[in-house]
Amino acid sequence: MRTYLVTGGAGFIGSNFIHYMFDRYQDAIKIINVDALTYAGNLSNLEAVAGLPNYKFVKADITDRKVIEKLFDKNDVDVVVHFAAESHVDRSIKDPDCFVRTNVLGTTNMLNAAMGAWRLSNGKFIPGKKFLHVSTDEVYGSLPEEGGYFYEDTPYAPHSPYSASKASSDLIVKAYMDTYGFPANITNCSNNYGPYQFPEKLIPLMIHNALEGKPLPVYGDGKNVRDWLYVEDHVSAINHVINEAKLFETYNIGGNNEKQNIEIVRTIIDVLKELLPEADPRRANLSYDLITYVDDRLGHDRRYAIGADKIRKDLGWEPKTKFVDGIRKTIIWYFENQDWMERVTSGMYQAYYEQMYGGKL
Ligand code: NAD
Ligand code: TYD
Repeated sequence: MRTYLVTGGAGFIGSNFIHYMFDRYQDAIKIINVDALTYAGNLSNLEAVAGLPNYKFVKADITDRKVIEKLFDKNDVDVVVHFAAESHVDRSIKDPDCFVRTNVLGTTNMLNAAMGAWRLSNGKFIPGKKFLHVSTDEVYGSLPEEGGYFYEDTPYAPHSPYSASKASSDLIVKAYMDTYGFPANITNCSNNYGPYQFPEKLIPLMIHNALEGKPLPVYGDGKNVRDWLYVEDHVSAINHVINEAKLFETYNIGGNNEKQNIEIVRTIIDVLKELLPEADPRRANLSYDLITYVDDRLGHDRRYAIGADKIRKDLGWEPKTKFVDGIRKTIIWYFENQDWMERVTSGMYQAYYEQMYGGKL
């Protein structure tokens, strides 16, 4: 039985990964999920697996050296899948410090604990161990509108405190691979969408506001481009990298699916209008008039697009979900899980929303 230590498993991509793995491998794996349960971590994302005997949740901060070392002492961890991070660009602009703490120091702490458990006295590592560091395409900076793609050898040029902290964490992982021969892979993925994403990110925030009849805050001219990937395709790519990638390789993961923000917002309005019954008073309110252009994000990257040729060629991975299907599935999921949305947007979320958008709308 293979033991996975997943960090940040109560967040958006981590919880999708845990569901994906139990759906496929059932009792052939054990998963230990370490999560500090920040505002972005939600145990209700994992209700369906919480009672499994081969699943364990540990509430802990990845910067806590003693607790993380103890986890490695008590468990024979085979694979670390490191998702835990502060992940939202707008928050990083308001409060960069915790991004450096979690993303840089937390990653270093995870690496040190894994080294302690996996490195033999001769300096070699126990065979079969792997640390998968989950990162973002934002480390590469911004592409011109006219074209081009991010490849694995594109120089790092991050702009936001978020992407700079992720770039730093990638470089620390690379340094451990180069210096100690530490058994790791790095993945750099484009924007994900799908179930369980916290409604501070574009797609769930717009769905949430549209259902409440609130303005839809589009930054700048709304023409910034992101390369959207359905989250299940991302976690399947991660699984390929865990099982098939040679150690020390880096893989870019993307949807080959570029969209301007404004197109996404319009699609959300169109699909929700179809879903809401005629008699629902929210339907009458729902129109493109809710779209409200607000001040641009500081340092806003114009365009991201991933060249995913290497993972396709080396590992045979390709995204399975077409955007038209994925976005529909996603909107329907949020529509049918409005109680989840209510739970995660109560309390602190209200204060966050007021701080971020209060002066803009
Ligand atoms: P998320 O914000 O939804 O979840 C992050 C999780 O990490 C939460 O459960 C949170 O409680 C936990 N966490 C935060 N700080 C912690 C700490 N100090 N100790 C322990 N746990 C902590 O993020 P996500 O969107 O699921 O992203 C997961 C990873 O994937 C991140 O590393 C992110 O950089 C990367 N990524 C995200 C995207 C995307 O589109 N969301 C794209 C590419 C890469
Ligand atoms: P986001 O989901 O925060 O992801 P990232 O910044 O990591 O790409 O934002 C996606 C795009 O949507 C980005 O160009 C910023 C834009 N955006 C808005 O226009 N309005 C919003 O309220 C949010 C949250 C994002």
